[in-house]
Amino acid sequence: MTALDPIVEFRNDHRKVRDGLLDIIDALKAKDVVKARNILGDINTAVGPHFRYEEENLYPTLKIFLGEYVDQLIKEHDGVIETARACAQLLQKDKLTDEEAETAANAARALLVHVSNCDGLAILSERLKPQELKELGEKLARARKAAVSLLDWAEKIRKK
Ligand SMILES: [Fe+2]
Repeated sequence: MTALDPIVEFRNDHRKVRDGLLDIIDALKAKDVVKARNILGDINTAVGPHFRYEEENLYPTLKIFLGEYVDQLIKEHDGVIETARACAQLLQKDKLTDEEAETAANAARALLVHVSNCDGLAILSERLKPQELKELGEKLARARKAAVSLLDWAEKIRKK
């Protein structure tokens, strides 16, 4: 399988999710729930492999720098998955009240904070050995090929 540059791809994923979340917030301001729902659907598809790669490959590799703090990253993912699930559920509605739109926009903001935090791992990844980066690139490509969405992965594959 072709190896990807794991740091470049990792950061590009974050940029796409950042832009998607900002678009969701704008769509909610404009009361366009269908648009917000569609964007969240795209994000759900796009970030499934990213999360899976992080938990199955990147975090274990970063343990050499972070030790047990890696467990905190997994815990942070618990919160992100819960927030994404709640937001997706809310956006199933045909119409949102002002309060519901604000709740959904706040969920998107919470996810945005995670994107920002997660991108910081790139600076640590830069200290990995070329062979480790090569292997991570292959693992990321593999996760993308499996193409399991975030919420499907969380429900069916992710270890509790
Ligand atoms: Fe990430």
